[in-house]
Amino acid sequence: MQLTWNVVPNPEEVIIQLDTSEEQQIQQGNIPEWLTKKHVLNLVNERPGFFIVKTGISDSNEALQRTVYEKICLLLGRLNTRYGAFYDVKDYGGDYRESRIPVSQTHDTTGFHTDSSALNYYPKYVGLLCIRPALSGGESLLANALDFLEYAERLMPECSALLKIPVIRDIVTPGTEFSMENLRANRFPVLNDESEIPVFRYMRYWIERGHEKAEIPLPEAYIEALNELDKFLNKPENQFRYAMESGDMLIFNNTILLHNRTAFTNPPESKKERLMVRTWIDAF
Ligand SMILES: [Fe+2]
Repeated sequence: MQLTWNVVPNPEEVIIQLDTSEEQQIQQGNIPEWLTKKHVLNLVNERPGFFIVKTGISDSNEALQRTVYEKICLLLGRLNTRYGAFYDVKDYGGDYRESRIPVSQTHDTTGFHTDSSALNYYPKYVGLLCIRPALSGGESLLANALDFLEYAERLMPECSALLKIPVIRDIVTPGTEFSMENLRANRFPVLNDESEIPVFRYMRYWIERGHEKAEIPLPEAYIEALNELDKFLNKPENQFRYAMESGDMLIFNNTILLHNRTAFTNPPESKKERLMVRTWIDAF
């Protein structure tokens, strides 16, 4: 099973193309027969680890966009309900630096991360439906953690060893009450390689915030390892970049791929603001 990219996938490799009759089927709320469980699970569990469906459904038919999206998400597993099965990602005008809100609820770039800061829970797959893109910015970025590990193990093995050390994350994901005891216990490694396929769980901002609040400083060498990881992720040649349009759906493996979005600006009319629908999907 190959999961590394080595070379970032082209859009042609990851966009599921539909012919005219399939587009018509989609307009009636049905998904093509060949878009089976087996097919989509292969796309997320092997290279490239993600796929995009361009449905062509416009935002004037948001209900149909959501119906088709739900059907596609259900091919991959069970929908998790911590945030509600379908969670609207939009700018609520808050500042994640001042209150404990997910960065996804702002217009800032999120930085490369995997979803969920909870000790005992992470979604295997994450889906995003674009109902309306931003006026500018808000592009989706993906990078492959296994590519970083291959690079790190070759050139700086101490870095991948450091990433196996459990570190604290601030408590943001619903399901755990905030207390100093729970915060200090909300500790797990960025890289867990106990299983055949490693599980990568990274969210730098919440790691740094967690350690700061717990009053346990991160070792200098660890910060250096995170700097190396960020340096790799932020190189354009290691990123898949895509500007989602209305009706587009992106589904990715949340344990191998890290995602990010660029900062964005909304149009002045509130009814036209950027709106994405996020779904956490648990494997069958
Ligand atoms: Fe996210």
